[in-house]
Amino acid sequence: MPETLTITDNRTGKTYDVPIKEGTIKALDLRQIKIAEDDFGLMTYDPAFMNTASCRSSITYIDGDKGILEYRGYPIEQLAEKATYLEVAYLLLNGELPSKEQLANWVDTVTHHTILNENFRHLIDSFRYNAHPMGRFISSMAALGTFYPEAKNISDATTRQKQIERIVAKVITIAAFNYRSMVGMPYAYPDNDLSYPGNFLNMMYKMTEVKYTPNPVLEHALDVLFILHADHEQNCSTNAMRAVGSSEVDPYSAVAAAAAALFGPLHGGANEAVIKMLNEIGSMSAIPDFIKRVKSGEGTKLMGFGHRVYKNYDPRAKLIKKVAYDVFEVTGKNPLIDIAVELERIALEDEYFIKRKLYPNVDFYSGLIYQALRFPMEMFTVLFAIPRVSGWLAQWQEMLDDPDQKIARPRQIFTGAARRDYVAMDQR
Ligand code: SDX
Repeated sequence: MPETLTITDNRTGKTYDVPIKEGTIKALDLRQIKIAEDDFGLMTYDPAFMNTASCRSSITYIDGDKGILEYRGYPIEQLAEKATYLEVAYLLLNGELPSKEQLANWVDTVTHHTILNENFRHLIDSFRYNAHPMGRFISSMAALGTFYPEAKNISDATTRQKQIERIVAKVITIAAFNYRSMVGMPYAYPDNDLSYPGNFLNMMYKMTEVKYTPNPVLEHALDVLFILHADHEQNCSTNAMRAVGSSEVDPYSAVAAAAAALFGPLHGGANEAVIKMLNEIGSMSAIPDFIKRVKSGEGTKLMGFGHRVYKNYDPRAKLIKKVAYDVFEVTGKNPLIDIAVELERIALEDEYFIKRKLYPNVDFYSGLIYQALRFPMEMFTVLFAIPRVSGWLAQWQEMLDDPDQKIARPRQIFTGAARRDYVAMDQR
């Protein structure tokens, strides 16, 4: 059986054989389909890329129908149970699990790059006290690049690797310093004796004690959450990272663009929106009315539900729900989880959600944990962005090394006015 598609253009009666490769046809192969020699040829029209592969990637595999998520072939469930976040970041960035020595070197490098240039404090201190942490994060990531002008040499692998190490390492310091500035606390500097999540908790919550000691259960829970949020193939913010990175800008600016995409409530901003929704529902008895509002089509969404790819339970949501109860053992139960669990139970039995294959996604339960860990709600998306920088950077370098890729510049269907002459003011 030939791996081709035979297309008949009924406008001309001509037929075309288009090769099928890896379950796709090349959009450019449609340009030969014309009605006249000077015709531009056919394009595809695919707003929001609902059915368009923008790249070939070996980083993350998702099977939306089966609820499968694998990083470089390793099931997310096994990585969440057996690996650390920095080990997973190495896997995403390098394609293989690190050896003992490789992991030790990687952890040492990241640990010893967490300090920010002291000048950075002036930028952080320049934000209004109530500036949203994601606005701070996006600005800070772009500003971080100005300290390393050599970062624009994106074709040099050694320089690229150096910036990757700096971004993975400094992202927790940037997040924590912005938080301390928000709450008017003195900065708590990195402690190289601590793990990556432990150091982040240290910089967030260290008070006057000489040495901060993270609670091991909470430290581990945060590490698992970092693993679960590290990458997710061609999501909106990764698409931004690849598109902006394709202009060959430095990785700090591309990460700032990706973080801006993540900020949206339909994407990474959903974890904050879920808590606001649960607070608004307020009690178990109010759930049926809320569900009715969602189903009325007036625009109220069940935040934390639904996904462009998963048409089954997001495997990350299952794992996060488990982590939540481990955390509540230490912090005390977040009362909102009862509303969330009941909301999930009702939704999963309701035809509206079943028909649309709407299940809890990664954002449905994560905010409950962040709240129990005493993170302010406005920081929830920053907590998503911290680990996602390793996914964005892995996708960015894969794009740069991909011979198929060039600067992203989609076409359009022009629907505007036909050519016309300028009209003088007194004629309008
Ligand atoms: C993330 O892409 C990724 O991988 C993202 C992510 C990652 O790791 O990077 O997984 C992280 O962003 C998770 C998604 C977090 N966002 C939310 O929880 C916000 C609420 N969810 C939705 O807005 C929505 O489900 C999306 C944006 C996630 C997906 O939207 P789609 O694929 O464009 O689907 P759609 O909006 O066309 O919805 C299809 C139908 C519509 O109903 P009808 O018009 O057919 O009647 O389902 C309905 C929608 O109204 N619908 C919802 C709903 N989500 C979809 N109805 C109520 N509540 C919802 N949450």
